[in-house]
Amino acid sequence: MLNDEDHSKLRKAGEIAAVARAIGMDMVKEGGKLHDVAQEVEGYIRSKGCGLAFPCNISINEVAAHYTPCVDDRKVFEKGDVVKIDCGAEIDGHVGDTAGTVEVGTKRYRDLIEASKRARDTVAEFIGSGTPICEIGRAVEMSMHLDGFKPIQNLCGHQIKPYNLHAGVSIPNYDDGNTDRLLPGMIVAIEPFATNGEGMVINGPPGNIVRIIREKKLADPKAQEFFEYVRGEFKSFPFCARSCDIPDAEKHVKTLLRHGVLSGYAQMVEAKRGMVSQHEHTFYIIGERAEVTTLP
Ligand code: CO
Repeated sequence: MLNDEDHSKLRKAGEIAAVARAIGMDMVKEGGKLHDVAQEVEGYIRSKGCGLAFPCNISINEVAAHYTPCVDDRKVFEKGDVVKIDCGAEIDGHVGDTAGTVEVGTKRYRDLIEASKRARDTVAEFIGSGTPICEIGRAVEMSMHLDGFKPIQNLCGHQIKPYNLHAGVSIPNYDDGNTDRLLPGMIVAIEPFATNGEGMVINGPPGNIVRIIREKKLADPKAQEFFEYVRGEFKSFPFCARSCDIPDAEKHVKTLLRHGVLSGYAQMVEAKRGMVSQHEHTFYIIGERAEVTTLP
C-alpha cells in the first residue's frame, strides 16, 4: 500500500491529468490544430508541477492510439472526426492516466463514444481488491456487445507502478480466462476501446512517440547532451520531440533511434478501418471498491 505522502501524490497526478484531458477535449473544434491541443494539455500538466507520463495522444477515427503531433504538425480537426485525447501526469513517478473521446461537429458516433464510456463506468462500479482480471474483461465485452459494438482485443488496460506506465498485470477488454485477482495497493488503468470494425488493431505508421530502451555513450556531444536531457526530464516514460525544450529535438530523436537508444511506437490502427472510441480512468485498489484517481 502507498504511504499517505505517495497516496496524495497519486491523487494529485490523477486530478491534474483529468483536468488536462478535459481542457484538451474542450479545445477540439473543426479547423483547430492538433498541435495546439497537445501543447495546451501538456502545458497545463507542467504548469501544475507535474511531469508528463507520456505525450498527449490525439488519435483520430480508425487510429486507436499512439499518435502525437510532431514539432511543426499542421493537421487540423475535420467535421465528423472521432477524436481520442489520452494524457498522463506524474509526480515523483506516481501516474494518472486518463482518456476520453469527442466527435467534431456531428453526432453520428454518439453511440460508439458512449459504448466505451459505459464499459469503463460499468467496471468502475465493481472493481476492487479481489476482483478477478477476467471479470473486468467480461464486463467490458458484455457492455459493448449490448451497445452493438466490439472491444478492441489487443489493446489492454494495465497495471502502473512508480515510473513504470505498463507494469506487471495486463487487463484485456475481453474475458481471457485469467483468474488472477487485483490486490490491495495495485494501481491499474482501465481503458476500453470500442469499435464498429474488426475488434483488433494493427501497426500503422510511426506516431512520433519514443522511449529510452538502452544506455549508450554517443560520439556526438550534442546527441549525448540531448540524451541526458530526456533521461532527466522524462525518466523511463515515453516522450516526443515536441515536448522537449531543447533545439533540434527532432534531429536528435532520429539520431538516437538510429543508435538503438530509443525505440518508437507505431500508431495503432483498427484492422478493418473501423471507427474507434476510448475512455480511461486510473484506479487505486485500496479496498472492496477502488478509488478513481482521475476525476477532475
Ligand atoms: Co493507459
